[in-house]
Amino acid sequence: MKNILVAGGAGFIGSNFVVYMLNKYPNYHLVVYDKLTYAGNLDNLLEVSDEPRYHFVKGDIGDAAAVEAAVRDYNVDTIVNFAAETHVDRSITNPDAFIQTNVYGTYVLLEAARRLGLERVNQVSTDEVYGHVPHGASSVETDPLAPRSPYAASKASGDLMALAFYTTYGLPVTITRGANNVGPYQYPEKAVPLFATNAIDHQPLPVYGDGRQMRDYQWVGDHCAAIDVVLHQGKMGEVYNVGTGQAMENLAMIEILLKALERPASLVRHVKDRPGHDRRYSLNVDKIKALGWEPRYTLVEAITMTAHWYRDNEWWWRKIKSGDYQVYYQAQYGERLREAAGEVME
Ligand code: NAD
Ligand code: TYD
Repeated sequence: MKNILVAGGAGFIGSNFVVYMLNKYPNYHLVVYDKLTYAGNLDNLLEVSDEPRYHFVKGDIGDAAAVEAAVRDYNVDTIVNFAAETHVDRSITNPDAFIQTNVYGTYVLLEAARRLGLERVNQVSTDEVYGHVPHGASSVETDPLAPRSPYAASKASGDLMALAFYTTYGLPVTITRGANNVGPYQYPEKAVPLFATNAIDHQPLPVYGDGRQMRDYQWVGDHCAAIDVVLHQGKMGEVYNVGTGQAMENLAMIEILLKALERPASLVRHVKDRPGHDRRYSLNVDKIKALGWEPRYTLVEAITMTAHWYRDNEWWWRKIKSGDYQVYYQAQYGERLREAAGEVME
């Protein structure tokens, strides 16, 4: 493995992964292949923009000819697929792009890898494919998939297609299913960066429902290290869960954020819940740990470090929040926040 095509490498986790791999492997080339949707951002890759082993190709993973050209041009031997529509709330209002990219686009990458005889594909997936997990239980890789949002269903479809390519064609495929990531360069639509940037600006934090839903908020660098381990040691055709194995309620996550940013709890607003909101995700991570991987950071450390990164990097997020983002924010939260303030009477 020397030339890795990182689909979606201009997004949050993909860009962290590219920097991690360039630093760790002095002879690897990393080719970012990215459509640059609203979530793709070349600012995420500024620190490697002068690195000769980093290459950027603008393209859609649904465009078979463009994918094939990038693979040939850079003599790619491995694909890691981060490219996706990733926000559950957007999948509820408009699922179409989720099907195009997460289902059809994944298929196009698998087919290119098969036709061109690549060494390996890792499909980056999510704990959300298992659906809601009751207290006391945690998901193992062989559990049946039970996705409940259009986002989760589209990711589950990508997983199943990847496994089908392994079984049917012998395509060398692995799948990593990560828990929620936090850290630098996450688009401020996801809960942690949304709450952090709102808190910095003394704006309300819109908490869905009672705020007692549970998530495993892992440090993005730990997730990247796990994908690296799977790329080098993972068994073909296998799935690996990636997370700390711990989970906390959203209200606890908010308490940590507010403490790190020195903001009051009075910023919290309970707003109308997300439809179909999964109450709890929880991963059993024994299988990836058996490959020698361990998370470096706890949830408290990861959330605190993330809060401090947003506090110290306004250059990155202020320009995002001032553009089309405002239209999204109003549509998603305007009425919810007015309702929470008692301004909308039923
Ligand atoms: P992100 O939304 O920050 O980035 C997605 C990237 O994919 C963007 O750069 C975007 O431009 C690109 N992209 C979208 N559609 C594309 C297309 N058709 N062709 C080419 N590029 C396209 O996402 P993220 O949070 O970095 O997530 C990366 C992957 O990890 C996704 O597959 C996601 O499902 C998975 N995942 C994310 C989390 C999380 O907490 N963020 C947790 C587990 C798994
Ligand atoms: P999110 O970051 O969207 O990730 P997930 O894909 O796990 O839903 O949300 C994390 C948790 O925070 C989830 O339980 C939903 C909740 N949430 C809010 O309470 N308010 C918000 O504005 C957002 C975006 C999320």
